[in-house]
Amino acid sequence: MNDSTDSAAQLKNFEDRIAAGEKIEPKDWMPERYRQQLVRMISQHAHSEIVGMLPEGNWITRAPTLRRKMGLLAKVQDEAGHGLYLYCAAETLGVDRRELIEALLETWSKSDFIEKTIWEKLISVLY
Ligand SMILES: [Fe+2]
Repeated sequence: MNDSTDSAAQLKNFEDRIAAGEKIEPKDWMPERYRQQLVRMISQHAHSEIVGMLPEGNWITRAPTLRRKMGLLAKVQDEAGHGLYLYCAAETLGVDRRELIEALLETWSKSDFIEKTIWEKLISVLY
């Protein structure tokens, strides 16, 4: 459904609910563009959490002590968890996690920013 097929009554009800301070849940009716924007924002946040693991991950083997390695591992694990929670949130809005991850991989595969070995690690975490 796109905005042209969203009925005026549904849109008014949606806007009235927001004006009344009600929460809109993922399964509730919402304008399609609104849903798409939520998916876009949530998936971008998820991607940034996953990509955020990379700098810390690079330092795990270089950390001088086991205690410091454990700290870095915990940080990387935290970021992975944040990303996965956000992918789950996006899925509640009706998208498939694999589609979001493939969009991330497609975008970043065109970049020279991430070297191949890191890229392979990222793919192994996501799948
Ligand atoms: Fe995070």
